[in-house]
Parts: sequence; structure tokens; C-alpha cells
Amino acid sequence: MPLKLAISGKGGVGKTTLAALLCHLYAREGRRVLAVDADPDANLGSALGVAPQELQRVAPIAGLSDLVRERTGAEPGRPGQFFLLNPRVDDIPERFWLERGGIRLLVMGGVKGGGGGCACPENALVQALLRHLLLERSDTVIVDLEAGLEHLGRGTARGVDALLVVVEPGRRSFQTAASVFRLASDLGVPRVMAVGNKARPGEEEAIRKGVGDIPLLGVLPFDPEAARADLEGLPPHQACPALLRAAAEVKSRLDQSCPG
Ligand SMILES: Nc1ncnc2c1ncn2[C@@H]1O[C@H](COP(=O)(O)OP(=O)(O)OP(=O)(O)O)[C@@H](O)[C@H]1O
Ligand SMILES: [Mg+2]
Repeated sequence: MPLKLAISGKGGVGKTTLAALLCHLYAREGRRVLAVDADPDANLGSALGVAPQELQRVAPIAGLSDLVRERTGAEPGRPGQFFLLNPRVDDIPERFWLERGGIRLLVMGGVKGGGGGCACPENALVQALLRHLLLERSDTVIVDLEAGLEHLGRGTARGVDALLVVVEPGRRSFQTAASVFRLASDLGVPRVMAVGNKARPGEEEAIRKGVGDIPLLGVLPFDPEAARADLEGLPPHQACPALLRAAAEVKSRLDQSCPG
């Protein structure tokens, strides 16, 4: 089975940037890449370089009321109902992804304020879809998660070959990484590894110390071009060659850790 990867970390550390760089690197190798935006505040598409007009056409799955109702048998947004926990989802990816340069983007969406963990039909559908993507698909799947791992259930976690937790030089991001590491290990994720980001010269050692027992796959430098690219809507693989090089090193270590 091709690689199934999930990316987590504190808000703003660079999860989406790393996810987009890795999607690009795997697609460049000729792999079929499924880029999954599982952050309710979705922006993986723009980091992949998809134009705003095109992104408007990508429907977040959790927001498709008719689909949620049809598949789960329950009314979205209404608490206290029975709904199917195992709805049919295998036909959903093809219907709703956006394909660009060998990368297929799926946007999960989310329940505002509810968190991915809430027991509602929207989340049941999103979680069933994630399980399907991670356990049954023969694509390289890269999931941009939020820090809380709300979307990862026990069943899903075992389908992830590796969870990357992004850290920046800063104690709060190390604390988030430590709790993500514990949670992911409890859920049964087979490998949890850290990737440093936004490291200015001399900060790599602090990152190495900060991640503690979490194996460190690599460190991406602070790159002023990244913020500019974000502002101008350019994908980091085009605008930030230094980040692309560092991400390629992370990828090659990842490929060594997750053979097959
Ligand atoms: N190596 C870097 N050097 C400088 N800026 C960076 C770097 N990586 C990311 N950034 C910038 O930091 C901001 C946050 O990055 P990104 O959106 O990838 O983080 P995130 O963890 O996905 O955030 P969120 O939690 O909001 O989803 C963006 O403006 C991005 O351009
Ligand atoms: Mg993000």
C-alpha cells in the first residue's frame, strides 16, 4: 500500500505548508496523491496553488447536507438522533475531489464550534470517509489535520503509516507535540515523528531538545518567502526553493522509515 500520512501540530506551525510540499514531491515522483484537508479552517488547496475561483467549487464534505442525510439517515445539525456509523463512502472521493497536476484535493470541512470529535452525522460521514481513504485506497494519502486529532479514531489511526507533528522553535509547540505524540500512540498510530519548521540559524538544537523522545525527521528553515507566497497565493513549492529542498530531505527519511 502506498504511504498514508497525517500531519498535525499547534496552530500556525506550518502543517499546511509541509503537507503541500510533500504532496508536490510525491506527485512529482509520479504517484497518485490524494491531498486531504481535514482542518475545518481549510486552506490546503491554496497552499497547493489552486486558484480561489476554482477552490470555491470544492465542496467541503461535512457541509453537503443532502449527502450527509442520504448516507447517515440523520438530519445534519440536529443533536440526539440515531445515524449510521458506517455509511457508504467509496463513491464520494471521485465525485468531490478537484484534480490538479497529479494531485487530487478533497476537503472534509467541519462542524463549526463542535470540534471534529462531536457525535453528529456530519462527523460520522467524515470519519467513515477518512477510514476509507486511509485503509482501502491505493493512493498516496496526505492528510492535513488539526492539532487535536479529533478526526482520527482508533480504526483510522492504524491506517496511518506515520503521523508527522510539526514544531516551531517555541515551548507551546513542543507541548502540543508532546500531547499529540501521547494521543497518537494511545490511538495506535504506528509511527509518530516530528518535523521542525521556521528554524532560524542556531535554532535546530533547541528543536532537537524540545521534541524530546519524538524522533525528529528533519528541520525546515525559517523562510521569509513563505509569508510572501502566502500573501500572494503562490504555492510554497514554487515560491520557496529552500523549503522545497528541506522537505525533500524530510521525504527521503520518511521513505526510509516507511518502506512499502
Ligand atoms: N518555514 C517557514 N518560514 C517562514 N514562514 C513560514 C514557514 N512555514 C510556514 N510559514 C508561514 O506561517 C504561516 C502558517 O503556516 P501554515 O498555514 O502552513 O501553518 P498551519 O500549521 O497549517 O496553520 P493552521 O494551524 O492555521 O492550519 C503561513 O503564513 C506560512 O506562510
Ligand atoms: Mg493549516
